[in-house]
Amino acid sequence: MDLETLKTELNKYGQSELTALIDAAATISKIDLGLVSKLYDMAKEGKAGGAEGAITPIPVTVAAELAPALRRKYIEAGEELIRKGGFAAVTMAGGQGTRLGHNGPKGTFDIGVEEHSLFEIQAKRLLRRAALCGAAQIPWYIMTSEENDAATRAFFVENGWFGYDPANVRFFTQFMLPMVDFDGKIVRDTPVSVKMGADGHGGIFRAMHARGIVSDMKERGIKYAFIGGIDNVLVKLCDPLFIGFACLNRYPCAGKSLIKRDPYEKAGVFCLKDGRPYVVEYTEISDEMAKAVNEKNEFIYGDAHILCNIFSVEALEDAGSEGLPYHVAVKKTKFVDADGQIVMPDKPNAYKFEAFIFDAFCRYEKMGILRVKREDEFAPVKNREGEDSPETARELYRSAKERNMLD
Ligand code: UTP
Repeated sequence: MDLETLKTELNKYGQSELTALIDAAATISKIDLGLVSKLYDMAKEGKAGGAEGAITPIPVTVAAELAPALRRKYIEAGEELIRKGGFAAVTMAGGQGTRLGHNGPKGTFDIGVEEHSLFEIQAKRLLRRAALCGAAQIPWYIMTSEENDAATRAFFVENGWFGYDPANVRFFTQFMLPMVDFDGKIVRDTPVSVKMGADGHGGIFRAMHARGIVSDMKERGIKYAFIGGIDNVLVKLCDPLFIGFACLNRYPCAGKSLIKRDPYEKAGVFCLKDGRPYVVEYTEISDEMAKAVNEKNEFIYGDAHILCNIFSVEALEDAGSEGLPYHVAVKKTKFVDADGQIVMPDKPNAYKFEAFIFDAFCRYEKMGILRVKREDEFAPVKNREGEDSPETARELYRSAKERNMLD
């Protein structure tokens, strides 16, 4: 009997309490146990993450210093691509948003501005840009996780799709990986469930490939796609300048950067590794590299990656053909102890494995980096309060609106 039939039978005979066991079995059956074992060994040896290599600075184009004629050329090319339907936006909304602690998908969070959710902010911005370009609606793909997919879809329905035609919005789920304790055991968070987590924003390539998103883009004649996160309220998902910059230079992939606030800002930085584009994550950067400055006292590795990237559809297809390396994070997570009791530990007790989108960059020989202004393009919502919180994002959003920087 397959698991679904077994569940129906259990319900039919009044044994529905046991269905959680069936759900757990279904989840466990999808786990790649060989991969989990390999990742655990790597984590134990401190080897998870990218391979070693020689790090050097990467050339960067400063948007504010572009010659006016070139700037115009990029913008016109970008607008033309949008008008022709050759451009799509992809929002990564599969994260757990643990630091924010909001009950529901992060995209449903209201920072207290005219648009009542992060999803609405992005939808309105896409619709506005299409209208400004005299284009049809820009196809919008949204990556969710198994944890938040149903709630995300329901939110769109409840909110009338924010004016979007549902035919132009497509959701797809990313893959999940279990958390593993320091002895290599898959963590159970209740006696009848295992602790799964989304496989990181780098999981997007595999998910786009496996869920038919890249094929859908090809069928629609899309040439370039922007990929960004849900939690930057100033994200320009459809910036003609950036699109033109990527397509006229024939970059398979391009990224926006901004100058780090200080050596320890929690953001990865662009560089070259063995001559190929790369991002060193803030958790993995050396003190020496973080602080290095040139003769003008500017950071040598100061261009922060802000999760604003454009990929050609060919590049997306290529990146989806192989998995990215996994990085390991040590996390605190509740677990079931030997006596069957659920315990919330007071110190980290498990490994979580995540792929990072920027590990795909080294697949390409060249990558365009466009440095933009922080106050116009970056206002993340990460923490409940303090730095990068709803409060700071709201202020930055209002200020950008007053300066007419939200188109
Ligand atoms: P973060 O890495 O900041 O994670 O994601 P998060 O889930 O929002 O928050 P914390 O770390 O749990 O507090 C940056 C962007 O990447 C997406 C997030 O939704 C966010 O837009 N993301 C992250 C995914 O789509 N999937 C993932 O597995 C991880």
